Amino acid sequence: MRSRIGVGIVGFGTVGTGVATILLHNAALISRRVGVPVELIRVADRDITRDRGLRLNPGLLTTDASAVLTDPNIDVVIELIGGYDTAKRIILDAIAAGKHVVTANKALLALHGEEIFDAATRKGVDVGFEASVGGGIPVVRALTEGLAGNTIESIYGIINGTSNYILSRMTHEGHSFQEVLQDAQHAGYAEADPTFDIAGIDSAHKLAILVNLAYGTPVNFKDIYTEGITSITPTDIAYAKQFGCTIKLLGIAKLVDGEIEARVHPTMLPSTSPIAQVEGVYNAIQLVGDAVGDVVLYGRGAGSMPTGSAVVSDVIAIGRDVRKGIVGRVPVASFQQDQRRPIRLRSMEEISSLYYLRFTVVDRPGVLAQIAGELGRCGISIASMVQQGRCEGQTVPVVIKTHSAKERDVQTAICEINRKPFVSEPTMLIRIEGKDE
Ligand code: NDP
Ligand code: HSE
Repeated sequence: MRSRIGVGIVGFGTVGTGVATILLHNAALISRRVGVPVELIRVADRDITRDRGLRLNPGLLTTDASAVLTDPNIDVVIELIGGYDTAKRIILDAIAAGKHVVTANKALLALHGEEIFDAATRKGVDVGFEASVGGGIPVVRALTEGLAGNTIESIYGIINGTSNYILSRMTHEGHSFQEVLQDAQHAGYAEADPTFDIAGIDSAHKLAILVNLAYGTPVNFKDIYTEGITSITPTDIAYAKQFGCTIKLLGIAKLVDGEIEARVHPTMLPSTSPIAQVEGVYNAIQLVGDAVGDVVLYGRGAGSMPTGSAVVSDVIAIGRDVRKGIVGRVPVASFQQDQRRPIRLRSMEEISSLYYLRFTVVDRPGVLAQIAGELGRCGISIASMVQQGRCEGQTVPVVIKTHSAKERDVQTAICEINRKPFVSEPTMLIRIEGKDE
C-alpha cells in the first residue's frame, strides 16, 4: 500500500501557484480524502527567484522541467506552462515515463487531445483535465461521471470569462466594444493579446473538449465554426433588450439526427434563461441530458485558486486510484478508447436557427419591400420587423427577426441584399436561440 502520492508541477505561474497553495493549505483535508498524504515534490519554472506569495521549501524549485519527469517519487506531473510544442512534449514524455498527467491546457487538448489520450491509454496512465473548461466548474467530471448515463442532447456554454465581462459591461453601461476591452485589459481579465478570447477561439477550444467528452468522438477543431464578439455594437445590444433578449458569446453543441452541430458565436437568448443572467467573468454551462433534463453549472471560469481547485480535484481522483493500484477507472476521454466513434460534424451552412438581421439602409420608399422580397425568394420567413424613426434620404437601421431558417439561405439572402445600392453597411447577423414564435 502507498504511503503517499508524489506530485510535480511544471509551470509556477497563475494556476501553478494556486495549485501549490491548495496542496499546502488543504494538505490535511486532501490526505483524508485520498487516504494518504499528497506531497508536492518538485516545482519547475523558468524563473524560480520571483516571489509568488507562497513559501515553498527552496529545495523543491527547479528550472529544469525534466527533473520533474524523471523523479521516481513523482506519480503525477501537472503541466501548467500553456502553449503547444513544449507543453505537448512534457506531457508525452511524462506519459512515456509512466507518470499520470494533469493539465489545464485547453488549447493543446483541442488540437492534440487524441494523440495524448491514445498515448496515455497505451501506456496505462491517467490524464486529468478538469481545469481545461470552465476553470473551477466541475463540468468535465459532470460529463464523464455524473451524467454518464445520459445521451447529451445539447450543450450551451458561456466558457470565456473575458468576452462575457465585455458583453456584460456593454449591456449594462452602453459602452462600445473597444472601450470595455481596454478596461478589461487594465483590470487584468483580458490577456495583453486578447485575440483568443474575443475572437471566440478560446471558447472553441473548450467546446471541442466538451463535444469530445459528451459524444465519445474525436473532434477536428477546425470544423467548429467560430465567430467572436468584435462586431457587436451597442445598437445590437439595445435591440436585443427591446426583444427581451441578451447577447452572449456561446459555445453550442447539439445532437441532431445522429450528427453534431458545434459552433461558437454571439447569440441572442431570452433574458429570462439561466445562462443569459450570467454576468461578468463568470462562466456557466447548460447541459441537457435525455434522462436528467437541464443541468446548469455556474462558477468562476478562470483565476489562480478556482482553476487550481479543478487541477487539485484531478490530482485527488488520480491519487485515490493510485493508492488502490487502479488505472483507467474512468477512461481518459469518458468513453472507452476503443469505443469512441467518428460522428459527422455538420457544416455551418447546414444548421437552422432563428436570426436577427440588422440592415443599414437609406430610408426611401420601396427599400423594405426589396429586403422582404429577397428574404422571401430565399425561403426565409419574417417573424417581426422594426424601423424606428423616419429620416427620409438618410441611413436608418431596419431590424428583422426571422422564423427558423437555414443558415445557407440566410447567407445567400444577405449576400444579395448587401449588393443593393440602398445598403450602406454590411448587414449584421446574430443567431437567436429560443422558441420559434
Ligand atoms: P502563466 O503564464 O501565468 O504561467 C505559466 C508559467 O510557466 C510561467 O511562469 C512561465 O514562465 C512558465 N513556463 C513557461 N514555459 C516553461 C518551461 N518550458 N519550463 C518551465 N516553466 C515554463 O499561465 P497560467 O498559469 O495562466 O496558465 C497555465 C495553463 O492553464 C495554460 O494552459 C492556460 O491556458 C490554462 N488555464 C489558465 C487559466 C487562468 O485563469 N489563468 C484558467 C484555465 C486554464 P514565463 O513567465 O517565464 O514564460
Ligand atoms: N482567457 C480565459 C477566459 C481564461 O477569459 O475565460 C480561462 O480559460
